Amino acid sequence: MQNRILVVDDAEVNREILRDMLADEYIVETAQDGDEALKKLKRHLDETAALLLDLQMPGMDGFGVLAAIRKNGWQNRIPVLIISSEKDVDIENKCFRLGVSDFIHKPFESSIVKNRVRNTVDFFAGKHQLEQKVRKQTRELKKQSRIIQMQAEKLKEAGAFHNLMMQYHCAIMEVETKLKVLNEEFSQEYNRNPFESIKSRLKTAESIYEKLSRKGYSVTVKNIEEHLNDVAGIRVICSFPDDIYRLARLLIRQDDIILLKEKDYIKHPKSNGYRSLHLIISIPIFLSNAKKYRKVEVQFRTIAMDFWASLEHKLQYKKDLKNAEEIAEQLKNCAESIETLDYQMQDIRNKIDSHNE
Ligand code: GTP
Ligand code: MG
Repeated sequence: MQNRILVVDDAEVNREILRDMLADEYIVETAQDGDEALKKLKRHLDETAALLLDLQMPGMDGFGVLAAIRKNGWQNRIPVLIISSEKDVDIENKCFRLGVSDFIHKPFESSIVKNRVRNTVDFFAGKHQLEQKVRKQTRELKKQSRIIQMQAEKLKEAGAFHNLMMQYHCAIMEVETKLKVLNEEFSQEYNRNPFESIKSRLKTAESIYEKLSRKGYSVTVKNIEEHLNDVAGIRVICSFPDDIYRLARLLIRQDDIILLKEKDYIKHPKSNGYRSLHLIISIPIFLSNAKKYRKVEVQFRTIAMDFWASLEHKLQYKKDLKNAEEIAEQLKNCAESIETLDYQMQDIRNKIDSHNE
């Protein structure tokens, strides 16, 4: 609460006259020279509504006090009114240049003193409030602009995400085309198709989010590129096991494809019976201004293995099955029967083929 006035004058009579005039509106403090004034001001800076300052004093004079106020950066926190018998225009102007708010001339006239002090205090308080408001609004604006900047970055990231997904989609198309080309060639040369069907899928944003979080990575475009191998997924369903290996070999052999990882769950089935050949490959896609390598997960399996995997997949989502163990056992048996069946069918096909030759 700014309810204090500090009167600085070396003449006691002046200090007392002003105290009398202002005492019913303010707590009036007095000082007899500049040094004492600065000490008292420092102690009650925030509660002091105005400083009434004499210019000529022994020791530190009024100009000294004004200089100290500027040096301490208080000129915007407290208004100064000069009390003086000075009539020299140059000196008054100098005071104004030094940041003084107003003058009260001696001899003092009670109503004039009260009005000038009140006006100055009110004006300063209003100015102070305005400044605070501006500061608050500036802070608010800065916050808003930070939010806008963050949103812009998120949008940029969203743009980059869509761009990346587009590239994975293109990578799927490239691999699909390569496989279809091989199929086309085979059907003409050997009168048979090395694969029955192709299924492809782009990992959904939710699934990407879930997998990255599970692996302990934040969800960024860079982490998607670096830590996920299966954003682009292709499943190639073949009739016979040997088609799988032939097709996989022909694909990997192409000179623009880089094999990053191979997992052969046919030669080394998973403990649940799962069989498939998995390749993680990197394939270039040619954009208007760049060539980008993108990873694609290609799973090869026979029709029978695919039949098995889709049924087994359902089991993974049914967590609280009572007879889960029994089902798992049955599935494993089926996987083994399917293997036997696949190779028997392959055998029969070989016999038919050799008969044709
Ligand atoms: P994921 O994090 O699941 O991709 O596994 P991973 O990175 O260790 O690779 P892995 O080659 O083992 O599996 C890749 C994909 O193959 C899986 O996302 C499934 O689509 C499929 N897969 C692997 N194991 C099984 C299985 O036991 N059952 C079924 N139905 N599918 C499987
Ligand atoms: Mg996967």
